[in-house]
Amino acid sequence: MTVQTTTETQRYLSGFGNHFSTEAHPGALPEGRNSPQRAPLGLYAELLSGAAFTAPRAENRRTWTYRLLPSAMHGGYRSVAHETWESGPFAEVDTPANRFRWDPWPAPTARTDFLDGIVTVAGNGDPEAQSGIAAHVYQANASMMDRYLLNADGEMLIVPQAGTLSIRTELGVLDVAPGEIALIPRGMHFRVELPDGKASGYVCENYGAPFRLPELGPIGSNGLANQRDFLTPVAAFEDGTRDVTVVRKFLGKFWEVKQAHSPLNVVAWHGNLAPSKYDLARFMVIGTISFDHPDPSIYTVLTSPSLHPGTADCDFVIFPPRWLVAEDTFRPPWFHRNVMSELMGLVRGVYDAKAEGFVPGGVSLHNCMMPHGPDATTFEKASETDLQPHKIDNTLAFMFESRRVFRLTRRALEAANRQRYYDAVWDGFTAPQMAH
Ligand SMILES: [Fe+2]
Repeated sequence: MTVQTTTETQRYLSGFGNHFSTEAHPGALPEGRNSPQRAPLGLYAELLSGAAFTAPRAENRRTWTYRLLPSAMHGGYRSVAHETWESGPFAEVDTPANRFRWDPWPAPTARTDFLDGIVTVAGNGDPEAQSGIAAHVYQANASMMDRYLLNADGEMLIVPQAGTLSIRTELGVLDVAPGEIALIPRGMHFRVELPDGKASGYVCENYGAPFRLPELGPIGSNGLANQRDFLTPVAAFEDGTRDVTVVRKFLGKFWEVKQAHSPLNVVAWHGNLAPSKYDLARFMVIGTISFDHPDPSIYTVLTSPSLHPGTADCDFVIFPPRWLVAEDTFRPPWFHRNVMSELMGLVRGVYDAKAEGFVPGGVSLHNCMMPHGPDATTFEKASETDLQPHKIDNTLAFMFESRRVFRLTRRALEAANRQRYYDAVWDGFTAPQMAH
């Protein structure tokens, strides 16, 4: 087991993709074998595989659980509706060749838990093909107490924007505040409590290869997100029998079953397929100390690779507080067009490419080859200012960047909070007078 020395010893194990061993009851973990003839304490041994059995060792993810009852003990699932959580293929409407931005979505007035509160903005790929992503926002005002979700379609990267989430998973409890992220593996039961009474944020549902830390190349062995700052919960379980509902997302549809026991009944587990959380303030930001910008890939926290080298199904990229020191350089993000498609959100503060209009809880989308960059106000100011070392503070923007174009949902296209004026953000530039 990984040695713990931090004050969080009681609750979390440190590392990403490590092989952990943890038990919530002494003696629950078998010694020396994974599935002994009788598991200790009368528990049931059950394997959760997050990679093909034969995946290369570096990519292989699996965890052995020792539980009060086998997960297989349930009846038939019946179809249920979810009005706002949509899945690939996203072919409901033609996605216009435009740039898009949304104000925050209005808070729900009816009782809404995390599962109910997910609203899909855009996505690409297809859960059946296990490739692509969906970008969601969520707004919730109620805890999931007797209701659990299992997402067979993808891993869930959760980015809280307001309100802490207490995520109760099969493998333990993650408390995740704004400024942190949570990563829930595909196929893991969980429910979400709201200690603050309400919560909002963003989700990247990743149908493809699990997120991992990017390679560091010439950066070397230090920098960006450090493995040890990812925290995985120690084993914790919900005891007893009670009536619960389990919702399973499968092939883009929702199914539910009533059962008489909590699926969070894992007393001990060992393996390297586990939920985790990460404080984005721990990200070591790298930038220029001379002039110009490195590409924004330098801000990659996690990546879900495709089969094309260096070309991600999704990069999770952040724009955290950092010093800007470049000389003779246009310091905000430059004008550009990108073969990759960029969906952005804002956890707090102001994003340095825009003077206004992009607010916490909002979303912007710049699809493949859509020109974007600073607005005229930001451009003027950044072009004229006397360049001194300057700290961008109290800000946290992020991006889901994908090799696949994001297709809009009809709901997002028609949303009242979509900014119909967005193109006008780039009005007001003037051309220099040139003789020709
Ligand atoms: Fe961009």
